[in-house]
Amino acid sequence: MEDVQQRHANPLVVDAGSGNAYLGFVVYELFLKDAEGGELLSIEGRPELTERAKGRAERLHFDRMRFQTAHIDQAEYPERIHVLMALHACDTATDDALVAAIKHGADHVAVVPCCQAEVAAQLKEKKAKPAGSMSLLFQHPWHRREFGSHLTNVIRALTLEAFGYQVTVTELTGWEHSLKNELILGRRVHRDNRRARLQLQALLAETGVQPRLTRLLGITPAGAAGGEAEPASEPTPDAAPAAPSES
Ligand SMILES: C[S@@+](CC[C@H](N)C(=O)[O-])C[C@H]1O[C@@H](n2cnc3c(N)ncnc32)[C@H](O)[C@@H]1O
Repeated sequence: MEDVQQRHANPLVVDAGSGNAYLGFVVYELFLKDAEGGELLSIEGRPELTERAKGRAERLHFDRMRFQTAHIDQAEYPERIHVLMALHACDTATDDALVAAIKHGADHVAVVPCCQAEVAAQLKEKKAKPAGSMSLLFQHPWHRREFGSHLTNVIRALTLEAFGYQVTVTELTGWEHSLKNELILGRRVHRDNRRARLQLQALLAETGVQPRLTRLLGITPAGAAGGEAEPASEPTPDAAPAAPSES
């Protein structure tokens, strides 16, 4: 927040899958309430939650909080997002949030994924099983759920890197507060990162999964039609850092 507030007069913060918008209220209170500019847009699929949060914002005179009832992948976003956050956006809603961040050039991304089922289901399919002893990692349903969740988040982090983000994966809070505790932070420092993209394509090919995030962004497994053939053994230098945009 401090970074975007230094560089943009009117930073736009998006809270995707905002629920009661508690996270948005905290961010607004801490960073936007006393600032001259900046807006916080909450996107939530359930209209009753949007209405309740809207009423609370009016009572608090948080005039630059906006609310939209929409699915994250169908919401109307301004052309440029500066910060996108998604706290426990259910299942693949986190992927939709990441797509919005990437497409709208968000400078910073902070997501704490919820439980995930999509990749575990793909691992269950025969075609998605890697050859050899790797598949032993997810023979049992419990392991498949955990491994699927882990693989999903590895793919999310790598996808952000492929689109030029510097990524930090860390813990959100103490385990006594939440079991959904993985915080993925991204800061855009390059236009893209070819090495990360090749690694991602290799990982998709080796595991046989194709989660919503990479499908939506058109990232194909290595060796697939339209995909790149082999991961580079030597890293390709990253593109020049993107000039901070003032739009
Ligand atoms: C577990 S709650 C988290 C709410 C809030 N971020 C928080 O941490 O308090 C997930 C919220 O995301 C919303 N949601 C899930 N999928 C969504 C989607 N595709 N589009 C919009 N909202 C979605 C749900 O309605 C729910 O309110």
